[in-house]
Amino acid sequence: MPPIPTAELHLHIEGTLEPDLAFALAERNGVELPYATQEELKAAYSFSDLQDFLNLYYALMTVLRTEDDFADLTNAYLARARAQGVRHAEIFFDPQAHTARGVEIDTVIRGITRALDAAPETYGITTRLIMCFLRDESAESALETFEAARPHLDRIAAVGLDSAEVGNPPSKFREVYALAREAGLKCVAHAGEEGPPAYVWEALDILGVDRVDHGVRCLEDEALVARLVADRTPLTVCPLSNVRLRVVDRLEDHPLPAMLDAGLLVTVNSDDPAYFGGYVGDNFTAVRDALGLDETTLRTLARNSFEAAFLDEGTRAAYLKEVEGWTR
Ligand code: ADE
Ligand code: ZN
Repeated sequence: MPPIPTAELHLHIEGTLEPDLAFALAERNGVELPYATQEELKAAYSFSDLQDFLNLYYALMTVLRTEDDFADLTNAYLARARAQGVRHAEIFFDPQAHTARGVEIDTVIRGITRALDAAPETYGITTRLIMCFLRDESAESALETFEAARPHLDRIAAVGLDSAEVGNPPSKFREVYALAREAGLKCVAHAGEEGPPAYVWEALDILGVDRVDHGVRCLEDEALVARLVADRTPLTVCPLSNVRLRVVDRLEDHPLPAMLDAGLLVTVNSDDPAYFGGYVGDNFTAVRDALGLDETTLRTLARNSFEAAFLDEGTRAAYLKEVEGWTR
């Protein structure tokens, strides 16, 4: 069965760092990892919550040091994504996680964009790049990061907000989002993953986001659901991530069907696939099997991904046609 053509809209490039590449880069850069073998590292992939995961995510990405490292990481993701049906990818990166340890933002952006520039020809994938601010860092640090990225804004489609959610509401980043919008960038933010519905309201009303990342907790607030449905605000849901980070107990309990029934514009994505047990096609297969989704629903999810993507209308129409032409 060919994979269903999709757009991946919630994907942290640092979250695609597989154990084999992590060890290869550690060797190349002379970085000491606190794990003797890939097996030992993989044994650490059992998380109690978001923070528990983030601790490993930030520790392992210290192997990323040079432009080539970021290009290799991005190419490895694109190759896997293509094999799983991804036709368009909107990719997050976390500049502060690199600049804080002495890697220049220019190095990060040049490495990633080198791979993205070749992606249409090499992998048949179109891409956008989304620069995320770490919400557990200060608002000033986000502003400094935005200014450091200014020379590269022609390569950046949107800004996003990630890392430890609870205690770091969207309103903290009002100013930097206003600057991003002034500069013509789109805006997205993680909200309603571990944080309450109030954070989704803030992302909409204070940051003016075009999409909400995760947003699964919106179901706790009827008025919020009505607002998201009325505005057709897309939600980038990550089912395997939600299980691994214990946002839901089991995939069989995932609110994806309830979200679709409520009329929300939901998409399926992989978040940090190297850590959460699968890339986007694996997420589609897992929700199909655990939630009993039929072909029509899978096609709706794929169609939603292209509706929600930051694409020009001609390209969007071409991708939507591919979805309609897909047969299992
Ligand atoms: N950074 C990487 N993955 C994340 C997630 N699922 N939530 C918040 N921050 C993240
Ligand atoms: Zn995420």
